[in-house]
Amino acid sequence: MIAILGLSGSLRERSFNSALLRCAAELLPPDARIELTSIREIPLYDGDVETREGIPKSVQALKERIVASDALLIATPEYNNSIPGVAKNAIDWLSRPNADIPRVFGQRVVGVIGASPSPRGTALAQLAWLPVLRVLGTRPWFGASVYVPYAQKAFDDNGELADEGDRERLRRYLEGFVEYARQMQTLT
Ligand code: FNR
Repeated sequence: MIAILGLSGSLRERSFNSALLRCAAELLPPDARIELTSIREIPLYDGDVETREGIPKSVQALKERIVASDALLIATPEYNNSIPGVAKNAIDWLSRPNADIPRVFGQRVVGVIGASPSPRGTALAQLAWLPVLRVLGTRPWFGASVYVPYAQKAFDDNGELADEGDRERLRRYLEGFVEYARQMQTLT
């Protein structure tokens, strides 16, 4: 069984990216499960807080959920052609202290997918994640991609992906992602 942690990079209640992760949960291959998590409780990174009080409880708890997973699936919005500040802020806290990065992110299988109202469907935000995934020593999966453009039309009122083509792309992405996580599991 492959345990995936699904992390939405949005705080919005009707977030397209959170909806995309809920659709992923429906389309997963049978030998995988996904738990969804939120970055809502993660405070703004402040080096003085870290020095004075250490790692906040909410950050530590999320770190342990990443450690307990076989793979991390990030659904990223795109802001100004890049990673939204709230999502980057969460990863920045999760990467503290430096010495804990190998335990939390090192060799961790990571996938990035996304949805946005624009015609590019988060292509630039997904590219912007690459240096972050690299510096953290992750094992990103690039075998397929999921960009959901025109998200306001792609999702119905219930937050379901309406188009069978989008669903099929997500299903195939998840198949490959889970297979990769399984292969990496046998290596470690
Ligand atoms: C956006 N949005 C956006 N979309 C996009 O595809 N490319 C972009 O560069 C931007 N830039 C941008 C900047 C700011 C400040 C905001 C608030 C929004 C639109 C964005 O994709 C849209 O709000 C999505 O709905 C955000 O994702 P969630 O919250 O629905 O998951």
